[in-house]
Amino acid sequence: MPGRVEEKVCVVTGGASGIGLATCRRLAEEGGLVAVADIDLAAAERAAAGLPGAAAAFPVDVTDDASVAALYAAVADRHGRIDVCHNNAGILLPDDTDPVATSPATWQRILSVNLTGVFLCLHHQIPHLLRSGGGSIINTASFVALMGAATPQIAYSASKGGVVSMTREVAAVYAKQGIRCNAVCPGPVDTGLVGAFLTDEHQWRRRAVHLPDGRLGKPEEIANAVLYLASDESSWTNGAAMLVDGGITATYTTAE
Ligand SMILES: NC(=O)c1ccc[n+]([C@@H]2O[C@H](COP(=O)([O-])OP(=O)(O)OC[C@H]3O[C@@H](n4cnc5c(N)ncnc54)[C@H](O)[C@@H]3O)[C@@H](O)[C@H]2O)c1
Repeated sequence: MPGRVEEKVCVVTGGASGIGLATCRRLAEEGGLVAVADIDLAAAERAAAGLPGAAAAFPVDVTDDASVAALYAAVADRHGRIDVCHNNAGILLPDDTDPVATSPATWQRILSVNLTGVFLCLHHQIPHLLRSGGGSIINTASFVALMGAATPQIAYSASKGGVVSMTREVAAVYAKQGIRCNAVCPGPVDTGLVGAFLTDEHQWRRRAVHLPDGRLGKPEEIANAVLYLASDESSWTNGAAMLVDGGITATYTTAE
């Protein structure tokens, strides 16, 4: 039986770890030809070597225009087409807090990866998708694109709001040319990105009170949503901001 993304050429930025790596695995298990793209090439190579099928690693710094252009050119050279782009690379920094305490340098750094990085990927990947006759773009946003974070992270939240806005606009502009563009909005997921912030009991309790089922998400639980959005099963899903958050945004929780 063919896989759910059989023979589709899929590029995942931030593919070497966490949500990106789990997505690479699910896409490869379902027949995708996966490009694991990451700023950490050694980690991307290790990741690609552990995947089924014809996965390959590619270096990319999503903040660098030339690097992003080279990524999509290299994947198109290798496979002759590009069908699925998961724009997922992102960072969270400890000194990104409220608007008064957060420095302009921290703001710029986060925006350059999380927002400009997604823009540069769109800028360079869309011509390839158009040449392939269309495709599916999935941007990784966050639940904080849709609600304020009481443990503040102003640059991160703003960057993810921008990702959702770009997603809707790309969906509207390219729908008639066969490109769909959706965002996945994860709640807190157990990856290195949040692990660094949950080092003590106080930090954990502060966040745990908001989790209806009392646990973090698993990277595979986000990857399964990305797989759906990548596949033709979601052929009429376009411009969506799909929450996969364990019910956080649906629930008024209390400490008891
Ligand atoms: N973990 C969460 O709770 C959570 C929640 C909502 C959204 N997200 C988003 O999910 C995405 C993946 O995060 P994760 O939790 O898997 O984190 P992670 O740190 O495990 O993975 C991020 C990957 O991005 C790569 N990366 C960082 N900067 C890069 C750059 N400039 N160019 C290319 N690659 C770069 C890193 O090397 C790493 O492999 C991010 O966009 C993040 O904001 C995460």
